[in-house]
Amino acid sequence: MIPDDAQSRYFTENPTPKALSKHEALVREFVEYHTSTDPERRVALVTSGGTTVPLENQTVRFIDNFSAGTRGATSAEYFLREGYAVIFLHRQYSLLPYSRHYSHSTNCFLDFMDDSGEGGNVVVRQEYQEKMRRVLEEYQYAKRNRLLLLLPFTTITEYLFELRSLATCLQPLHSRALFYLAAAVSDFFIPRDRMEEHKIQSSNVQDGKKTGDGKQLLINLDPVPKFLTTLVSQWAPEGSMIVSFKLETDPSLLVSKAEQALHKYGHDLVIGNLLTTRKWEVVFITKDGEERWVRVPKAKRSRSVSGIEELVGMADKNKRLDEEVDLNG
Ligand code: PMT
Repeated sequence: MIPDDAQSRYFTENPTPKALSKHEALVREFVEYHTSTDPERRVALVTSGGTTVPLENQTVRFIDNFSAGTRGATSAEYFLREGYAVIFLHRQYSLLPYSRHYSHSTNCFLDFMDDSGEGGNVVVRQEYQEKMRRVLEEYQYAKRNRLLLLLPFTTITEYLFELRSLATCLQPLHSRALFYLAAAVSDFFIPRDRMEEHKIQSSNVQDGKKTGDGKQLLINLDPVPKFLTTLVSQWAPEGSMIVSFKLETDPSLLVSKAEQALHKYGHDLVIGNLLTTRKWEVVFITKDGEERWVRVPKAKRSRSVSGIEELVGMADKNKRLDEEVDLNG
């Protein structure tokens, strides 16, 4: 399929990200390394976190979205556990596999430590030893075996350029490649030719009718071209598996929108989730028309650290944990 005009223009009119050629080289090397050391090794490209829409070329302000990268970072750990090598294309400074357990706001790493070690040495507090050892072991295993490649992006444009190029770099993997598109992708952006170069000055905003002092900042956004069709038909290796996510806020739209996406893009699986319940329930919409809900039972929600990603892995594999994976219940 030939990419539509809007998509071709998107890639010619927006600047190529500075880090792209370095990232391409890293991915090629990663693919070659794993293909030569284990020809059976599957590789997952996991996308994670929000994409920004800059308002100025020398960016002071930008539009962002809610995603912290929890879904992507958590899922990446489960892919690694299942034997995948993972390319983690993530929003810079969003959550990362393994370190997410001890990251800023809710789980500050300093709260896990004290200075009660011998001679006043700083140590991990006793009650956290076991879990931290497990996380550390998995992290070190992934590092030692070069199983995790971390690649950051910030803007929607960087994300799309990266996705296009990295998908192409995965071509030699054929059906051993898996795409897991959990990033929250902006639907609107300001085209380069309409973007201000410098910081927008409050004194320059236009006269408006609604604000107290009669001034408004008016921003016109264009739709970001949909890229999934081209990913499926051109960029991704033939035979690779492509999983996308569908986010909605209105429960009455979720299933129909997820079904539409699967039908339109012709890939393998759409996982639907609602903004408010995304940590506890998701719905799988599969090619064969199945609609399958996976839920963390209510009693386990507050203490679940791994979250629903653990249950999704189990439900996906062999449906063996029916008491934990509450389907349609
Ligand atoms: O990070 P967390 O806080 O844990 O949140 C996880 C999550 C809610 C972000 C994640 O589970 C999720 O749903 N990610 C997809 C969010 C999203 O972009 O949904 P959407 O309905 O707007 O887009 C659906 C799909 O269309 C996306 O997978 C994207 O690949 C595709 N798309 C989007 C925009 C665009 N211009 N072209 C596209 O092809």
